[in-house]
Amino acid sequence: MKWNWFKNSLLVKLLAAVAFSFLVSIVVMAVISQIILHLYNVQFLTEEIGVTTYNMLVFLIFSVVILSFILTFLAITRNKLLYIKHITESINQIANGKLGWTIDRKGNDELSRLAENINSMSKELADKFEYERQLELAKNELITNVSHDLRSPLTSIIGYLDLLRRGEYSGQDQLNDYLDTSYAKSKRLETLINELFEYTRLSSPDVKLDFTEVNLNDLVDQLIGEYVPMFEKQNLSIRKTMPDYEIPVVMDVEKMIRVYENLLMNAIKYSLKPSEIHLTLETDGSRAVMKISNRVESPPEDSMDKLFERFYIGDKARRTNQGTGLGLAISKRIIELHGGNIRADYHDGWITFVIEHSYGT
Ligand SMILES: Nc1ncnc2c1ncn2[C@@H]1O[C@H](COP(=O)(O)OP(=O)(O)O)[C@@H](O)[C@H]1O
Ligand SMILES: [Mg+2]
Repeated sequence: MKWNWFKNSLLVKLLAAVAFSFLVSIVVMAVISQIILHLYNVQFLTEEIGVTTYNMLVFLIFSVVILSFILTFLAITRNKLLYIKHITESINQIANGKLGWTIDRKGNDELSRLAENINSMSKELADKFEYERQLELAKNELITNVSHDLRSPLTSIIGYLDLLRRGEYSGQDQLNDYLDTSYAKSKRLETLINELFEYTRLSSPDVKLDFTEVNLNDLVDQLIGEYVPMFEKQNLSIRKTMPDYEIPVVMDVEKMIRVYENLLMNAIKYSLKPSEIHLTLETDGSRAVMKISNRVESPPEDSMDKLFERFYIGDKARRTNQGTGLGLAISKRIIELHGGNIRADYHDGWITFVIEHSYGT
C-alpha cells in the first residue's frame, strides 16, 4: 500500500526527474571538462588565457550544463505536461457546455485520479442537466393539459352566463337548467383546480410530511363507516376482512386519508352496480397490505399502470364527465413519499388496488 503510494505519487516522479536531469548535467559537465583537458594535453590550447576568456569559458560551460538539465527534465516530463494540457482543454470543453465529456485515463497518479474525478463530475452534471430538462418538459406538458382541461368547463360557464345575461331562455325551467349546469361546471372547475394544486404541491421536491403513528385497522374502520351511506345510496355493499391484531403504521394521516378516499370514491364511481366492494387488510413480513376490489363492466383497454398517469381518464369517466384523472396520480405520489407502493390488478371482472405500507415503528 505504502509502496504503491510511493510509486504512484506525482511528487516522487518529479523528484526522480530532477535527480535524473541533475545526473545527466553532471555527466555533461564531466565530458566537457574532459574535452578541455584533452585539448590542453594535445597542446591545442597552449597560450595563457586572459581573465575575460576564462570567465566566458566558465559561463559557456555552465550554460551548456543548465541547458542539458532543462532539456532532460522536459524530455522526461513531456508526457505529463501534455496530459495536463489535455485535461485543461477537456475542462474548457465541459465549461463550454459539452456535459458528459470524458478524459482518457493515463497512468496511475494524482493526474489520472484528477481526470477520473473530472469525468464523474462531468457525468453528474450531464445527468442533472437531463433531469432538469425532463422536469421542464413535464411541467410544460402539465401546463398544456391543464389549460385545455380548465378551458372547457370555463367556456361552457361563460356560454350559459351569457345566455342568462341576455335573457335568452324560455321560462323558469330553462333558467334553472342553465343555472344548474353552470353550477355543476363551476364545481368541476373547483375540483380540477384543487387537485391540480395538490398534485403540483406534492410534486415539489421539498414537500414535507407530518408523520404520526396510527392503528391502520381503526383508521380504515372509521373511514368505511363514513362511506357506508354513500355505498348504500349507490346500491353497493362493502365486505371487509381485517386481522384482529393491531397494525401500527407511521404515516401522514391527512395525506393517506386522501389516498383511501380517492380509492373508495373511485370504487363507488366506476364499480358495476349493484355489486359488492371488498376491502382486505393483512400483513406480509414488514409490510401492511390493503386491497380494495370492485367489479367492472369490461376488462381495461389499457395497461393497469396507465391508470396512475396524471390526466388518465377511462371511458366511463369520460362519458359521465366525472373524473379529473389526477386522483390516482396524487395517490401514487403520496404513497411513494411514504416509501410504499400502489398497483392495480385486473382479474375475472374484478379490479383490485393494492397498497403496501411499511409497518411497525
Ligand atoms: N375502482 C376503479 N374501477 C375501475 N376503474 C377505475 C377505478 N379507479 C380508477 N379507475 C380508472 O382510472 C382512471 C383514473 O382514476 P383517477 O386518477 O382516480 O381519476 P378520476 O377518478 O378523476 O377519473 C379513472 O378515470 C378510471 O377509468
Ligand atoms: Mg379518482
